[in-house]
Amino acid sequence: MPYNNYMYILGIETSCDETAASIIKADPKSGRMAVLANIVSSQIAIHRQYGGVVPEVAAREHVLNILPVINEALVQSKIEPDRLDLLAVTKGPGLVTSLITGLETVRTLAFAWSKPVMEINHIEGHIYANFIRPKTPIRFPAVVLTVSGGHTTLVEMADNRKIRIIGETRDDAAGEAYDKAAKMLGLGYPGGPIIARLAAKHKKASSKVDNQNRFHFPRPMLNAAGFDFSFSGLKTALLYQLEKDPLWRQRIPEYCFEFQQAIIDTLVAKTIKAAQKFRAKTVMLSGGVSANSELRRQLAKAVKESLPKANLLMPELDYTTDNAAMVAAAAAFKIKSRKPVSFERLAVDPGLQLR
Ligand code: KG4
Ligand code: ZN
Repeated sequence: MPYNNYMYILGIETSCDETAASIIKADPKSGRMAVLANIVSSQIAIHRQYGGVVPEVAAREHVLNILPVINEALVQSKIEPDRLDLLAVTKGPGLVTSLITGLETVRTLAFAWSKPVMEINHIEGHIYANFIRPKTPIRFPAVVLTVSGGHTTLVEMADNRKIRIIGETRDDAAGEAYDKAAKMLGLGYPGGPIIARLAAKHKKASSKVDNQNRFHFPRPMLNAAGFDFSFSGLKTALLYQLEKDPLWRQRIPEYCFEFQQAIIDTLVAKTIKAAQKFRAKTVMLSGGVSANSELRRQLAKAVKESLPKANLLMPELDYTTDNAAMVAAAAAFKIKSRKPVSFERLAVDPGLQLR
């Protein structure tokens, strides 16, 4: 590999509805890195009118946006293509019609520029978002919770490369639960930030009035053995509760608060339980739902109380929802154990498992 200590990596991410490119400067030996450009073209405004991601629309937008986004990353970072040491691209999991734009673009660039390519798992990307400018040292073993629109996954890391799944959702992802609940409540897409805002509004208002809560949602699988999650029952509980309550439209912030709290209680309790079992020295959070300030606050409190010696890391907000800096960051670590792929052998895998 033609690099002395530092290498320049171009990351590309198109697994769902964000077209993203990033250039990082990374030292694979020390794990230190700097993000030189992090460009994300979000399609949220387009999909909002349909109430969720429409795969064909996402595919067309990726095709339109991918080259301008890559060009912007090159311009902003002032890195010429010939200085790049490695291209990194999301191989899966994700929507096949979205993944393919990123991967085929990288295939063409790898051929034209004669560059090696590292294929990255999208969840790996979210995990390594924590390794970009970490605010506290990352000590191992570590336990990482990735919560996004498509994934709710707990992993154990024995070192900065070894990732082992210890728990996953058996049905909906936590972000998906937020998005579906928001749809039921007529709040729009994506549901996470909207529910978070209304829940905060309710919390502020109810702190002035005692005992406002009229209902309580289940905490699915909270006491079950192991570290798996399930959120589809919670969604059904919301539906039944709304059917029973003719005045629900007047209590939307309260519903948001209770629904969010059920998700947070489950995520926090399982993460703490896993961190205790695996004697984690670092607890990390990642994925789109990790942008949630109430989840961050409550996890921080729980780690402080239950694991006072452990470090807690959460990515900067720019690296929580889908981005390509996290894909390039994952490649900087994986280069030590995973072989780059030549352009002929690249292939998307929409159901790619984490290994
Ligand atoms: O990681 P991401 O961008 O895409 C996937 O890999 O799925 O995550 C998107 C998800 C959506 O479900 C969105 O509702 C959720 O993250 N999300 C949030 C917040 N911001 C985004 N959920 C809760 N609170 C937030 N502040
Ligand atoms: Zn994601």
